[in-house]
Amino acid sequence: NAHEVRSVWTSDEGSMAKQTAEIRWAKIIQGTVDDMGETAAMENIDDQKRAESIAIQIALKNIKKEIQKDNALTPLQDDGKPDVQEWNNLLAVIGECSWVNCPWLFGECYMYRRIQGILTSSKHWQNYDVFKRQKDSTFVKSRAAVEELANRYMQTVAETGLVQNESKEEAKKLRFIEMTEVSLWGNATDLSLLANLTLEDLQKLQGRDAIQKSQRNIVDNDTDDVWAYLQRTAGQHSRQIDIVLDNAGFELFTDVLYAAYLLDAGISTSVRLHTKESPWFVSDVIPSDIESLFKHLDSSDCFPSRESLDQLIPRLRKFFQSGAITTTSDPFWTTPFSFHEMPSKAPALLKELQNSYLVIFKGDLNYRKLTRDGLWPHTTTFEEALGPLGKQSGIKTLALRTNKSDVCVGVPTQREVDALNEEAPDGAWVQNGKYAVVSFNEGQ
Ligand code: F6P
Ligand code: MG
Repeated sequence: NAHEVRSVWTSDEGSMAKQTAEIRWAKIIQGTVDDMGETAAMENIDDQKRAESIAIQIALKNIKKEIQKDNALTPLQDDGKPDVQEWNNLLAVIGECSWVNCPWLFGECYMYRRIQGILTSSKHWQNYDVFKRQKDSTFVKSRAAVEELANRYMQTVAETGLVQNESKEEAKKLRFIEMTEVSLWGNATDLSLLANLTLEDLQKLQGRDAIQKSQRNIVDNDTDDVWAYLQRTAGQHSRQIDIVLDNAGFELFTDVLYAAYLLDAGISTSVRLHTKESPWFVSDVIPSDIESLFKHLDSSDCFPSRESLDQLIPRLRKFFQSGAITTTSDPFWTTPFSFHEMPSKAPALLKELQNSYLVIFKGDLNYRKLTRDGLWPHTTTFEEALGPLGKQSGIKTLALRTNKSDVCVGVPTQREVDALNEEAPDGAWVQNGKYAVVSFNEGQ
């Protein structure tokens, strides 16, 4: 029962939560300090701005010290944003807690909100994205996979005329599986985990072969159910699909490609991409990352093999220009609330999602929020773990997520859980990003 299952804390032994709080957070903050330093050292930065960057770097380093000393989490200071009180109320409800002894979901969101607070209360750095440099440089390293996927997509379009003319049912379904998995495994490379990955590792995670091999690692796979739902409802007049995005760069490329496919194949009539309003969990998409994606794709320095890209890019752009693909941000995505709180905290957003034909949630953080970061038994149904967004919610939810935290539900049987524990012991299959879920719930 939902209320008995606790959420993971950063003090839980053996958890990804603890490891993240003890090791990764300090590195992430140091990354922001280094980034500020590098930008401030650039020639075209004026003196006042440079001087202010020193103060910002000190404030950032102070967060790092707080984490390393495991200080108590303190209320946010007023930085002029309307959400401060809400954060502090929630902190008060949690009660006394510290960085390495707090609910993981809250603590991690709080860290990104603190970074944001420092920048937004500055004079010269209000809209500065401390993670942009990292996002850009990693995207460029995904060259091989980007070019491969572009080739593959344009080849498909050439072979089948328009994808939507494909007549054979089985071929259509296989295409759906393939494109869904491209978007799924696009999530394998988020930057908050990248600290530990080499370029070679990165390239191994991407590309078609890697994707095919990974299929058996999908521990809850509802692709057939999604497909059945889409077939059953294909006659509906308006079929807007919402994609709640996760990471910029390579994953965003796979998601835009997926959106294009959903439109080309006639599965959806429009696609709405949800971005974050401000920098979040290092690599999450903010509005400016969309334009940045196209800027990179257009550049033959980044992507020298042009043939397919030169055909694909105008095709993708057209979807944005015609309004077939739109983008939107909601402040709820950058709150510390899990999605179980959506009915009370973001009722208008909830209504929009209820009106959607299908809502696709990308990535680990969205999954943690869908399931309240709860330590559910792994055989708990996805529907149950969704709480108020599950049964009778009216939301058609599809989670595409590689497993990078402590929560994972929907594994069909305990036998399968046992087998996974044997194959990848000590929770590795829930944590190491090599396993994944394609979990669907119709909200009926
Ligand atoms: O621990 C890794 C981590 O920072 C998690 O806290 C978080 O859930 C995840 O990375 C972010 O992954 P994603 O970009 O898939 O949401
Ligand atoms: Mg992310």
